[in-house]
Amino acid sequence: MKIQIINGPNLNLLGTREPGIYGSDTMEAYLDTLRKRYPDIDIDYYQSNIEGELITKLQQVGFTYDGIVLNAGAYTHTSIALHDCIRSLKTPVIEVHISNVHKREEFRHHSYISSACRGVICGFGMDSYRLAIESFI
Ligand code: DQA
Repeated sequence: MKIQIINGPNLNLLGTREPGIYGSDTMEAYLDTLRKRYPDIDIDYYQSNIEGELITKLQQVGFTYDGIVLNAGAYTHTSIALHDCIRSLKTPVIEVHISNVHKREEFRHHSYISSACRGVICGFGMDSYRLAIESFI
């Protein structure tokens, strides 16, 4: 099974970015843990701060991979382009968030991408990514 994890803007700063909200693990350390836990799954990782680059990556993997785990960061709350892209793919996409966006500011309560995704997982810290992978298994 091939799974692509995609992180959007500011998620390259995990580990130092607002640790009270996002924890103190780096994504690289967490990916190590995931790859050890699921040795039979190919877990690829991509991060970009740029909306168009996220769309390009989604289009590249979205017809051949078995699953995509997408944390679109703040683009979740703004991007019709990501919504359209996810709808056009064959590979199912799970929307994930580290924090529980519904417990936070109101502008985080609306997602432009949820209705295009297979499901949504939020609020379980870094474990949100693992739960998304479990859903594909
Ligand atoms: C986030 C939540 C978003 O509202 C925020 O803009 C992020 C991270 C999360 O993982 O909790 O960048 O997607």
